[in-house]
Amino acid sequence: MEKKIFENLSKICKTINYIDDESDIIKYSKDWRRRVNEKALCVVFPKNENEISKILKFCFDNELKVIPQGGNTNLVASASPSKEKEEIIINLEKMNQIHHIDTINKCVVVDSGVVVDDLNSNLEKKDFLFPLEMASTGSSQVGGVISTNAGGINVLHYGSVRNNLLALDVVLSNGEILRLGSKVGKDNTGYNLKDLFCGSEGTLGIITKATLKIYPKSQNYFTFMASFENLKNIINFYEFISQQIRFPITGFEMIPQISFDLCIKHKFMKKSFFQETKNYYALVKIQLHHLDEAIIDLLEEKLSECSNLYSEIIIAQNEKQNKEFWKFREDLTEAQKLEGKLIGFDVSIPLDKLDYFFTEGKKYIDDILKDIKFHTFGHLGDCNIHYNLIEPDNLKNNFYDYEIKIKHVVNKLIKNVTGSISAEHGIGLLKRDDFLKTKKNLEIELMRSIKRVMDPKGILNQNKIFRN
Ligand code: LAC
Ligand code: ZN
Repeated sequence: MEKKIFENLSKICKTINYIDDESDIIKYSKDWRRRVNEKALCVVFPKNENEISKILKFCFDNELKVIPQGGNTNLVASASPSKEKEEIIINLEKMNQIHHIDTINKCVVVDSGVVVDDLNSNLEKKDFLFPLEMASTGSSQVGGVISTNAGGINVLHYGSVRNNLLALDVVLSNGEILRLGSKVGKDNTGYNLKDLFCGSEGTLGIITKATLKIYPKSQNYFTFMASFENLKNIINFYEFISQQIRFPITGFEMIPQISFDLCIKHKFMKKSFFQETKNYYALVKIQLHHLDEAIIDLLEEKLSECSNLYSEIIIAQNEKQNKEFWKFREDLTEAQKLEGKLIGFDVSIPLDKLDYFFTEGKKYIDDILKDIKFHTFGHLGDCNIHYNLIEPDNLKNNFYDYEIKIKHVVNKLIKNVTGSISAEHGIGLLKRDDFLKTKKNLEIELMRSIKRVMDPKGILNQNKIFRN
């Protein structure tokens, strides 16, 4: 069966590259969190839109299932197989051209397989940036970050990928090619199909090319960390500085003490930046046109006006210290991975309800299992917390045996406070059942209808978001 598929694929698309070696297939099939064990049938590496179109037409005619894949850094297994040896992974890594950096219209035209960091190193030569900043940009690709509407630490000021997307080329499930949008941002002509593809996790089509907004690169940031006794203080501090500081706050991250403990334990750093241990820390980035003493004095004065809210404050004095702060922010998910099994939530909670959510959540979860390590950090300024639960030390049972119970109480709480069960990581395979349980039926039905229209044979990324 597999052999026949390759033979036929090679016939319709003579130039196609693919791998069918078992160990290589496993490499592309595994998800970042290592929760998926199924293997794909094979992995193909198209080099251009025409090849993708031919592959999809072939798969459509033969009802073969495909998984579009970029850097595969996704945290909800959106680009991994859902069934053993049933799906063909279409990996976009060979489609990696940057076509045009347009400094007049402030946009860049790129293939979907371009790695985000490579895009930014090219933009940097022209003093521009694409404002997506997150730990995985060294591997994540443009198509992947569009299809998941990626977020990261700059959303507060620049918005998520959807806010920075001007145009898209997409191959539909039957091989037809759709071109959406253009270099101009303003375009109120009917339904916005381009934005529908953004965040659809490869279930509606395969993105081949995109036009993205770019911004003049600001060389100047005022970065600091502060420590807080409790959650209320850090939230009040955020409220104060976002009202009082007139420069754009591009990032406001919340980090708990356990992040320092994990990073020290797993040798990402030697010691905390702070003298005294506190419950929470903020890492804040403020963008400035230029750095001069008067501006710094003004910022420091504002910070001293609310000094009753924080315990210690450390202002980055140079690029080295700035980098150390952000390296710590990047490392904490790697350190978390080394600590043990994880039941991860990626929640949006209105800030005025966050304290209640944390207090109630801990109560309910402690009732299910004691000594879970609450590693709850994230983009506080966007109301987005990675509410991550790490297994207790020396747990005899499998931590994942508690997952359904824990998800039940947490999802109920999220609903009570009108939050979201997935703020930035999407649904994929891992959040699908929670999504189906928590969304309203009418909304699910409308989404399903859209899926049926775009992918009538259900060949695109089966079992992601919905069950096939
Ligand atoms: C982060 C990832 C987990 O914010 O979204 O580090
Ligand atoms: Zn995040």
